[in-house]
Amino acid sequence: MKVVITRKLPGEPEKLLKKNGFKVIVYKKDQTIPRHEFLKLTKDADAVLSLLTEKIDKEAIDNFSKCKIVANCAVGYNNIDVPYAKEKSLVVTNTPYVLTDATADLTVALILACARRLREGEQMMRENKFTGWKPNMLLGFDLKGKTVGIIGAGRIGRATARRLKGFGVKIIYFDRKKRDEFETEFLAKKVSINELMKKSDVITVHLSLSKETHHFLDAEALALMKKTAVIVNTSRGEIIEEKALIKLLKQNKIFAAGFDVYENEPNVNHELRALKNVFLLPHIGSATIETRSAMAQLAVNNIISVLKGKEPITPV
Ligand code: GLV
Repeated sequence: MKVVITRKLPGEPEKLLKKNGFKVIVYKKDQTIPRHEFLKLTKDADAVLSLLTEKIDKEAIDNFSKCKIVANCAVGYNNIDVPYAKEKSLVVTNTPYVLTDATADLTVALILACARRLREGEQMMRENKFTGWKPNMLLGFDLKGKTVGIIGAGRIGRATARRLKGFGVKIIYFDRKKRDEFETEFLAKKVSINELMKKSDVITVHLSLSKETHHFLDAEALALMKKTAVIVNTSRGEIIEEKALIKLLKQNKIFAAGFDVYENEPNVNHELRALKNVFLLPHIGSATIETRSAMAQLAVNNIISVLKGKEPITPV
């Protein structure tokens, strides 16, 4: 049976597949696989290990002649037409759990970078503009005593809250459902999204992207933020109406924003690059050696399981 891996991944996941007797084709170039190559390679594949850069839409699914499983090497799966896959009895899996901590770590890094103006400080050093310690230079704000609004109190939201608790913050959250364990662990209250936007000093987004969450934070919701507030996003760019956020940042109507994800990846709105009060990262939430290797292994284990006639480990 043939397994296609759309790009070389950390942890050499192909080894385990080969050991299990599968023929493995790894797309050779270190770039997003071009669409025509993807369609050609996966036409007769029994399994595909895909990345969030590949669109597994109706066309791609109809092109498969015998594929049983698409194992997405990401926790998000907005790149896959899951209802259509289901209709075609194609199993879709993702990689939850293994990237929770790495993503929460990066979220905290972004929050600190924004609150303490790390980008401006770093740029000052690189441009050789540091002329000595000054009492009023690059003043940010303390996290202690501030209110953090967690939007989406699932695994990553919760791991982020756990880290932030150590900074002495008060936590409030918004989620579709009441999260009793979250409330007990963080003495956190569920509030409406408007209340969260109004009350928080730091807002962090941990929703998965779907039709319902596209532009969940629209111009109206963003406009409720405090002038001193920071917002960071390590989930999916499309959840925030980026243009509206840029407008607020340009007018200094909020303190800062930290981005790991963007609305039109890999294209980044050029206006963002010109702003001082933003911290920009290239979608690296799960980018550690350990985590990326674990993600690849989990994707491979899902494939082995399904091709051997067993249940997938982490089905979507
Ligand atoms: C990364 O963005 C992921 O969804 O795993």
